[in-house]
Amino acid sequence: MESENILGIDVGATGIKGAIVNPKTGALITERIKIKTPKPATPDAILAVIRELKRKLKFTGDKIGIGFPSVVKNGTVLSAANIDKSWINYPIVEKYSKALRKEVYVINDADAAGLAEMKFGKGKKKKGLVIFLTLGTGIGSAPFKDGKLLANTEFGHLKYKESVAEKYASNSARELKKQSWKVWAGELNTYLKMIDFYLSPDLFIIGGGVSKDFISYKRYITLKTPVEPASLQNAAGVIGAAMAADARMII
Ligand code: BGC
Repeated sequence: MESENILGIDVGATGIKGAIVNPKTGALITERIKIKTPKPATPDAILAVIRELKRKLKFTGDKIGIGFPSVVKNGTVLSAANIDKSWINYPIVEKYSKALRKEVYVINDADAAGLAEMKFGKGKKKKGLVIFLTLGTGIGSAPFKDGKLLANTEFGHLKYKESVAEKYASNSARELKKQSWKVWAGELNTYLKMIDFYLSPDLFIIGGGVSKDFISYKRYITLKTPVEPASLQNAAGVIGAAMAADARMII
């Protein structure tokens, strides 16, 4: 059966990415376009960017899937760590479906990227507990037990030192503090050990921008539990968002 192509959108703190995706194969049908996240990144400003992506990609299909950097429940955004505070309690699915005149599905960005990585990447056919983490501006988390997602976990906000983990082990923390791979990986290692102790996973998959640099910090990660870089890298977000729309996922 021919599958329906879906517009996958990945909303991040610095960029909003979009591509038309075949959700059954994970293939990108178009190039992946990135537009800078507007400031302030309000609901209307982000809608305008998604409209532009839809136009640039000449999308004529019915479904749009969005990975969003917040807790998203029943189509409503419930948190705003790295995005404008006006998002809190915003019924994104209802508003964007009306505005874009499409079937819109929205889930957390790490959950979306994790879905793609579990289906087409390093998590493929992996049983047991796999914890997918995205290390970008913040830290997103998506645990999968025997391939099944536990949505809306916020492991990036686990208490760590004086604040929360994403203030130390995210890629933006490394950049902001101009840390060497060694110093930053020390924080990441401590953080991973903490999650490892709490949850005893079988595998960690590291996604986000730093997954491509894994070779630079791999030797500082001393956990017994395997830690691997994601294989889909930056495309995971748009692919997973399209998969969520394909499955009509409402979390
Ligand atoms: C947010 C998460 C998100 C992560 C990655 C965190 O600050 O609270 O919901 O998944 O950043 O974007």
